[in-house]
Amino acid sequence: MRSLLFVPADAEKKLAKAMESGADAVIVDLEDSIAPDRKAEARIAAAEFIAAVSEWSSRPRLLVRVNGLETGLTDADLDAVIPARPDAVMLPKAEGGPAVIHLDAKLAVREAAAGLSEGHVTVVAIATETAQALFLAGSYQGATRRLAGLTWGAEDLSVELGAEANRDADGRFLDPYRLARTLCLAAAAAARVQAIDTVSIDFRDETRLARECEEARRDGFTGKMAIHPAQVPVINAVFTPRPEVIARAQAIVDAFAAAPGAGVVGIDGVMYDRPHLARAAALLARAKQMGEA
Ligand code: COA
Ligand code: MG
Repeated sequence: MRSLLFVPADAEKKLAKAMESGADAVIVDLEDSIAPDRKAEARIAAAEFIAAVSEWSSRPRLLVRVNGLETGLTDADLDAVIPARPDAVMLPKAEGGPAVIHLDAKLAVREAAAGLSEGHVTVVAIATETAQALFLAGSYQGATRRLAGLTWGAEDLSVELGAEANRDADGRFLDPYRLARTLCLAAAAAARVQAIDTVSIDFRDETRLARECEEARRDGFTGKMAIHPAQVPVINAVFTPRPEVIARAQAIVDAFAAAPGAGVVGIDGVMYDRPHLARAAALLARAKQMGEA
């Protein structure tokens, strides 16, 4: 998933628009974009929407962001939406492996009741929204086979830290949030799941968005969340492997294939060893998944 577009669950028009946005995934939000007294209505709207579009032959993946485990709202969220068969649940304010194990059990019960196979619904966790979560980032590894991705957030974390700001005057994240971003990246790599970059909330600033996407890709993220349809094409473009990058990866794989047992090869005056081979193979696998290679 290159782009994951958030839509408030009670915004019917935006939900329809999101399906046409080109996003690889639509995240139907029951959490922060829904006022407390609208949660019940939003659950019904989310379930109706997912049930209506889930059988489309070609569609984005459908995620539901539920309310966090500490809110007491998660069970009612899951009761409403799991029978509609979303592809995944996004867990906000997740605190490490214990949180996704807890969610795993809740999902298993509802999958059984809805006649879904166990593990049908995958999980994407927002891994850095509380201070405690930062210390638990290393505990996702091996926690549940449902885990498909990890992402990070700076807004809730800055509130909990008591910070005045989370970005500098240039719009770059400050140290505590750069740490959160790095922990998310490392946690995802350790758990062998997708690392997904956080949202850019200034949705009119395309230059900043493109810069954030490129920095994210450079560092190992393979997708980014969006809050506005205009952000989707920018994100998709940056996270689609470029032809010259695919060609270089193929050349590395071919060079090793042509030299069985070699630990190192030279191509055009540059040395490549086994880690380069692993990176090239991973990129080709991702490109193939997207139909690019
Ligand atoms: N998904 C689908 N469509 C969206 C959208 C989204 N996330 N955000 C905006 N649109 C639609 C608008 O409805 C509007 O449609 P129209 O031209 O048919 O009227 C069009 O895109 C242009 O919208 P625009 O006027 O530029 O923005 P806005 O002021 O209407 O909305 C936000 C701004 C931030 C309220 C809106 O983008 C939004 O709701 N984003 C998602 C927020 C969210 O889910 N947050 C939680 C996660 S951090
Ligand atoms: Mg939040």
